[in-house]
Amino acid sequence: MTDRVTRLYDAAEPADIAAVAEILRDGGIAALPTETVYGLAGDALDADVVGAIYAAKGRPSDNPLIVHLAGVDELLRVVRQTPPAALRLAERFWPGPLTVVLPRRPIVPDRVTAGLDTVAVRVPAHDAFRAVLRAAGTPLAAPSANRAGSPSPTTAQHVLHDLSGRIPAVLDGGPCDVGVESTVVDLTSTPPRLLRPGGVSLEELREVLGDVDVDPAVVGDLAPDRAPGAPGMKYRHYAPAAPLVVVEGTTAQAAAYVRAQGLAHPAVLCFEEEAAAFDGLDVVTYGRAGDPRSLAHGLFDALRALDRPEVSRIFARCPEADDGLNRAVRNRLLKAAAFQVVRAPEPTGG
Ligand code: TXA
Ligand code: MG
Repeated sequence: MTDRVTRLYDAAEPADIAAVAEILRDGGIAALPTETVYGLAGDALDADVVGAIYAAKGRPSDNPLIVHLAGVDELLRVVRQTPPAALRLAERFWPGPLTVVLPRRPIVPDRVTAGLDTVAVRVPAHDAFRAVLRAAGTPLAAPSANRAGSPSPTTAQHVLHDLSGRIPAVLDGGPCDVGVESTVVDLTSTPPRLLRPGGVSLEELREVLGDVDVDPAVVGDLAPDRAPGAPGMKYRHYAPAAPLVVVEGTTAQAAAYVRAQGLAHPAVLCFEEEAAAFDGLDVVTYGRAGDPRSLAHGLFDALRALDRPEVSRIFARCPEADDGLNRAVRNRLLKAAAFQVVRAPEPTGG
């Protein structure tokens, strides 16, 4: 498993798409680009293949995988029913960054669903992923193609950093468009429940579904004796080696707060507009304040850039608005921070 050479394929080359599809048809696994993040794909209906995905990632076996389909017409291959809510969501958001949880058919191996009676499914929008899906001719299970615990990969280089030598192939489709993972919504509960915010916003879901609950794990409000709706939400995730804390307040307050800590090598993760206020510190920016698409797009690459041994602590600036794509960005940053948030005090004057 660790002594193989990982080969890089080009998503713009039809011959490379065909070669990767062939690896998957032969019971192999490969990292593929999606519009959200890179996924580590394999035949969702073959329990051994699914086992190889878990092994390559080092993923705990109680964290189920998303099954990717070529189109909504394939839904009944893996789920028992297609409730009207699912079809309305599919109509509006597929192909795209939305995953729905529905009762599963027995054909879906226990390993995919971690023994749950439900399966998470989505139809991805990335052309290369869709081409591989069609050529492979089978639903593809694909978790994010990172080592368990790391930020999800948004470039082929991120995948190689985490999984080189552990998988045979990476299909390079350039940087992912959205940059955070799909939204996961559980349609087996009433009202439907948002398990993970992502590329489709809660507001957009409510336009289609009406009432939608938010799983308490999304905002870190989970009682210690309760399990999150999405098993994956309980794991420490997205975190660089150094502890990360979210700092709220104005730019000036945050900059004063970081300097007042007097740490040896603090690093700052902030909006582009704020970089000058942190001048002289180790600063990584991830997008523009007020442009949540840019923040989502740049977040995981920035978190990886901060994963350096000399960094003692990371102070992160996070959008305070909890709407649209901001909700996904906040969720990922709060998870990276283990929900540690400080409010930088008002300057005391004088
Ligand atoms: O954008 C994405 O969703 C990417 C790309 C590759 O499609 N995939 C992805 O997969 O993020 P993964 O495995 O990293 O995250 C899947 C999440 C986990 O939190 C998992 O616990 C949850 O979905 N999940 C999977 N099956 C579930 C189920 N039956 N019920 C509840 N949650 C489920
Ligand atoms: Mg993941």
